[in-house]
Amino acid sequence: MRPRFHRFATALLAAACMATVSCDRVPRAGGTDAPDDPDPCAIAAGRAFLKGYAGDWRQDTDQKRGQPPPPVQKPYPPDAAIIELAHPDALNLGRLPLADAINRRRSRREYTAEPLTRGELSFLLWCTQGVERTVKNARGRAIQTYRTVPSGGARHPFETYLLVHRVAGLEPGIYRYLALEHALLSVGTVPDLPEAATRACYGQAFVGEAAVVFVWAAVPYRTEWRYGCIAHRMIAMEAGHICQNLYLAAEAIGAGACAVLGYDQRSLDGLLGLDGRNEFAVYLAPVGRVGERN
Ligand SMILES: Cc1cc2nc3c(=O)[nH]c(=O)nc-3n(C[C@H](O)[C@H](O)[C@H](O)COP(=O)(O)O)c2cc1C
Repeated sequence: MRPRFHRFATALLAAACMATVSCDRVPRAGGTDAPDDPDPCAIAAGRAFLKGYAGDWRQDTDQKRGQPPPPVQKPYPPDAAIIELAHPDALNLGRLPLADAINRRRSRREYTAEPLTRGELSFLLWCTQGVERTVKNARGRAIQTYRTVPSGGARHPFETYLLVHRVAGLEPGIYRYLALEHALLSVGTVPDLPEAATRACYGQAFVGEAAVVFVWAAVPYRTEWRYGCIAHRMIAMEAGHICQNLYLAAEAIGAGACAVLGYDQRSLDGLLGLDGRNEFAVYLAPVGRVGERN
């Protein structure tokens, strides 16, 4: 096994073993109990999660109980400095035919030192979470958004964080994408951000070598409010839709991305300043410019 895949597999195994629930042993597909299963309890929890809920969850939601919906975007201070991004309509980017982008797509882990442009970053953010239409209530508050990716009930439970290492015209640091405004909010920085990003991903060096790292954090209550206990499966699936758009959009601008689930939850949440309970990282993808088809 190549070392980075070995590290990745070990990381996933460690993550699975961390789940602590009380449950019965789960037989293997062949029907036998497998003595070498790493932790049958974690496996049972994982299967229960994947399979969904056997009962009728539809009445058991905060929406049914008449609770108001949560904000569609995490609030920020009114006096915060916002960094505007060009609207993708104004950028002549990503004109590669879709079939070519699909055929070329690979997980790319080797990047050149060339920075991405702010326009390219704007395009990638648009393709992954861009808001095409906002529904507002009578008081003008955004209550629903339609974006470039699908989301069950248009709940869109993600905030996008960027670990910016090399983007022309942007100071290296941690940013949050404001999807409603198509703008960036500076969240701060830490000393040697690329090294910290690599460490949070169990030493996967390409994470720190990328021009920018997209991190998708879930705000689960946005989906739980309407879908109760099936929200979490929905959220996991939606992260996949987003990341696939990033893969294709990156190919379309001569860059490359790689999905990453091998990360340490506490380290990554800590790096982003997330509470780990009402908002936590669920998926990430480094992006960088690539040379000839690496
Ligand atoms: C959910 C998910 C998690 C992944 N996590 C990692 C990871 O932590 N590190 C890594 O190097 N690749 C990761 N990958 C990329 C896979 O290794 C890659 O998709 C696979 O090797 C197939 O290669 P391809 O994407 O080029 O077709 C992940 C892919 C997915 C879909």
